[in-house]
Amino acid sequence: MSMPSKYAKIVELAKRRGFFWPSFEIYGGVSGYYDFGPLGSKLKRNIENLWREYFVERHSDFIVEIETPVIMPKPVFEASGHLKHFTDYMVQCCNCGRIYRADHLIEQQAGITGLEGKSPEELSNIIRNSGVKCPECDGVLGPVKKFNLLMKTNIGPYKGSIGYGRPEAAQGMFVNFKRVYEQMGGKLPLGIAQIGRVMRNEISPRQGLIRVREFTIMELELFYDPKNPSCHLLSNVEDRILNIIVADDVAKSIWRPQRFTVGEALSRGVVKTEWNAYFMAVAVEFLEALGVPDEKQVFIDKPPAELAHYSAQTFDQLVRLEDFGWVEVSGHAYRTDYDLSAHIKKSGADLRAFRKFETPLVVERLKVRLNMSVAGRVLREKAKAVAKELSKMNPELVFKRIKETGWVEVLGEKITQDMIIIEKVSEKIHGERFVPHVAEPSFGAERLFYVTLEYAYREVNGRIVLSLPKRITPIKAAVFPLVVRDGLPEKAREVYKLLKNAGLDVIYDDSAFIGRLYARADEIGVPVAITIDYDTLKDDTVTLRDRDTWMQVRVNIRDLPTLIHDYIMGRKAFDELGILFRKPA
Ligand code: GAP
Repeated sequence: MSMPSKYAKIVELAKRRGFFWPSFEIYGGVSGYYDFGPLGSKLKRNIENLWREYFVERHSDFIVEIETPVIMPKPVFEASGHLKHFTDYMVQCCNCGRIYRADHLIEQQAGITGLEGKSPEELSNIIRNSGVKCPECDGVLGPVKKFNLLMKTNIGPYKGSIGYGRPEAAQGMFVNFKRVYEQMGGKLPLGIAQIGRVMRNEISPRQGLIRVREFTIMELELFYDPKNPSCHLLSNVEDRILNIIVADDVAKSIWRPQRFTVGEALSRGVVKTEWNAYFMAVAVEFLEALGVPDEKQVFIDKPPAELAHYSAQTFDQLVRLEDFGWVEVSGHAYRTDYDLSAHIKKSGADLRAFRKFETPLVVERLKVRLNMSVAGRVLREKAKAVAKELSKMNPELVFKRIKETGWVEVLGEKITQDMIIIEKVSEKIHGERFVPHVAEPSFGAERLFYVTLEYAYREVNGRIVLSLPKRITPIKAAVFPLVVRDGLPEKAREVYKLLKNAGLDVIYDDSAFIGRLYARADEIGVPVAITIDYDTLKDDTVTLRDRDTWMQVRVNIRDLPTLIHDYIMGRKAFDELGILFRKPA
């Protein structure tokens, strides 16, 4: 009998203890949808809050968070390019009719990678020449076709009011750029972040939480002036290490990560923008905080053919997983001015920022106005309207036309040279408008959720211990009475209330023997278990047991809230919390 994979074990634990499970189970399920249970919702929220801390709150002087709708009207995606470009390739079995994602099938069966830039014809040829078949019935596969991943709907009852589920939160930041820019004092750099649901009509999602049709994205658009592209925080991360597979190696399918400091990656031109490099360093630290060591993380510089339509450079951050291999958990794209320019063009709105000159520029320009003493006699009551219209016209063009023909037409009137005064005036210009550039780090919460579980999952003496990072674990402490009599449960409930009132996520359990209670707490990742025993009734002390070492210390009840808080936040080691009571076996 083969051993269940780590993925299978995690799925079993997740269902049993309430982390996650397939959605709509009572109706047979729909692939690509997952529900989060009581513990899963808390864990996911804690991961999102940790992201918020690393990417938003630490930079709250210039990065802010917004919330925008999930369904967006068609023009947004016409402008953004998603209607045209947000596609994958599908292929259908001619025998059983099952549909697959063409590139995934080729990768799985023929081991050919780097297919993202290929055309449908090229993929069809590879399928034919490599003998790729339907994995279910071995049938022959039909031609490869494009499939748009946007989820379509109708907004309201009127036909033609088409909307799409957003596939990324980013467009909410782009369409709101000007408003937030003004609210934040018209300054750059400006970061606009969003954590929210997105939808992608994935062709054949089959990897659990790794590829789903609806997920939470955690995304940040950092807007900056391309003439002043430096990141003022770079010195904080310059010496941090990034494991990068460079573009040249990716193009040759050489999967060899090289270690660069952030400073080296920039000076050698590996990473094009300082802001992307900065957030890549933050991303490594964030993943470490989720329990993924640096050596299990790598960035891949995506080759040009594989870049999203909006990107001039993208690094995918990958994490090593036991059953799925290297899995992308975040993308770091240099989106240039692509999106803002596209929305300016489509909507006509001015989404530019303002760059102030250090010293105002004095420029000479032409000004044209109607010579009333001459024109008034000819135009009479229409003179005022013509004067107004003339003032709105481009003086350079009026001047050119007068020079060429001796007259210009305004509101249907022939205005001759003697009816116009053309003069040169000097003007002070204080700055200029420009379209900001954008660096974007973007994370999928579901993938990080699974990654976090996998890195936390351990088996000790045949028992599951979920060594989740303490800060994000759903339950921070569990309170147990040693026995269910002699006033111990009552005392334990007092302790439970004390911790709850101190704002800690805490549980009380007395439904089994103490050993069983410890085991149950370990498998949902509770960092400390508190046992109330007979000594507690005498001296108000309790036993604190550590999830990861099973070490035990004795502490006073009144110190519990502070001690647990310090331990969770990593300010104290476990053996610093109290008097050592029992070492692990
Ligand atoms: N705005 C940029 C953007 O959306 P992306 O690489 O397409 O970039 C960002 O998506 C992240 O979202 C990925 O790095 C991955 O973690 C996650 N993601 C993408 N598709 C997903 C899916 N079908 N299921 C779960 N997570 C997904």
